[in-house]
Amino acid sequence: MSDKGSEAEDKFSKSEVDKILKKYKNETGSLIAILQEVQEACGYLPREILIYISEGTRVPLSKIYGIVTFYAQFSLIPRGRNTIKICQGTACHVKGGKRVLAKLERVLGIKAGQTSSDLKFTLEIVRCLGTCFLAPAMMINYDYFGKLTPDKVDNILGQY
Ligand code: FES
Repeated sequence: MSDKGSEAEDKFSKSEVDKILKKYKNETGSLIAILQEVQEACGYLPREILIYISEGTRVPLSKIYGIVTFYAQFSLIPRGRNTIKICQGTACHVKGGKRVLAKLERVLGIKAGQTSSDLKFTLEIVRCLGTCFLAPAMMINYDYFGKLTPDKVDNILGQY
């Protein structure tokens, strides 16, 4: 077991998983809802917890892994409490999105696709947020930020 797995178990005990399993006990087809709730509470889906869910639901672990790896919403590795989606689509790229990404990577000390060591932020690149009129744009969780410049990055991150 990795240290990160142990950390996850410390933060999210099996008795809490039991509560979620109990809640969905008599509902067929509730596996995705269970996985969503556990991930929301834990931040990701550690292997130890997936084994525990498999035992509790009697759904084979291979099937659970099939679901977790199919849906982009699930993560098998620790994620930050906040997810930054920085757009590198055409409109944002043309308006300097690359410089904003570089600033984010510098401030957070990570590359796109990674999570900061304090588990505060996960940084992801997306190809369009549907808000090209705000280019260059990013989202943090459900908040939109547009007309970005590298200078605005520190202030925005400070809000989280
Ligand atoms: S290209 Fe960035 S929001 Fe559309």
